[in-house]
Amino acid sequence: MAEMNFYGTPLPYIDHKPYPGKLIVIEGTDGVGRSTHIAELRAWLEAQGHAVSDTGMARSDLAGKGLKEAKLGHTLGRLTMQLFYATDFADRLENEILPALRAGFIVLTDRYIYSAIARAVVRDIDPDWARALYDFAIVPDAIFYLKIKSVNELVMRLISSGRGFDYWESGMDLSLGEDFYESFVLYQSRLLEEFNRMSLEYGFHTINASRSVARVSADLRRAVTAIIEPMAPALEPADSPEVIARLRQDLTVKPKKRKKPAL
Ligand SMILES: Nc1ncnc2c1ncn2[C@@H]1O[C@H](COP(=O)(O)OP(=O)(O)OP(=O)(O)O)[C@@H](O)[C@H]1O
Ligand SMILES: [Mg+2]
Repeated sequence: MAEMNFYGTPLPYIDHKPYPGKLIVIEGTDGVGRSTHIAELRAWLEAQGHAVSDTGMARSDLAGKGLKEAKLGHTLGRLTMQLFYATDFADRLENEILPALRAGFIVLTDRYIYSAIARAVVRDIDPDWARALYDFAIVPDAIFYLKIKSVNELVMRLISSGRGFDYWESGMDLSLGEDFYESFVLYQSRLLEEFNRMSLEYGFHTINASRSVARVSADLRRAVTAIIEPMAPALEPADSPEVIARLRQDLTVKPKKRKKPAL
């Protein structure tokens, strides 16, 4: 059981009891490999019998759809967008993350409050205000920061995946560069600086993400194993061939010896 710790004042109606699950955050700049590694970790943990839940920014029932619509236009100001993202986070914390942790799930989250704070700070929003906005957040069991060495590597990944540059991932609202490419490089460089600054402050476990997917996965698996070890041992998968063979043996109904009928 882990104690429920918060960065500041929790939401007033939150149950603070220790919880049996684990909250694992995967952070990092756009395109660094978060989705790839969350999918890999999820499959690996589930194969060992763990219950896994995953969540990420702008996926709440309350604000997810509204955020997607807001990102199609530019009518909401910078502070309003921060408040909208904080609303999304509060809804997922209350209705997804905490219930899953109380039920013993390993919750993998694609970004957490750190991305939101970094995005706010690079938009010249007061860093203390941005941190205070999220002080109701629960302190995770682990924060894995996928750190890329240079923004050029991110550019290569985006180009080779055929995705190209997205308006918000390029920070086009900040008018930093002449075009998407230039803006992406400048914006992501600022975000990288911010993540590196937060690394000590929040105790990020840094993973060198400039290596192959397999190497990053191996590091993540090792680090996650250390965190989940104190949890109840993983259940054997219910449908493994060994389990099925044993079940067959146990369930074989041996016919009772019938008494010979009296002649
Ligand atoms: N270690 C790696 N080495 C090379 N390419 C990688 C690595 N990790 C991920 N990729 C590739 O980079 C691209 C982006 O990966 P992915 O979508 O997982 O990143 P993301 O952090 O979730 O991005 P987004 O910010 O857009 O959600 C994909 O094409 C993926 O296959
Ligand atoms: Mg992703």
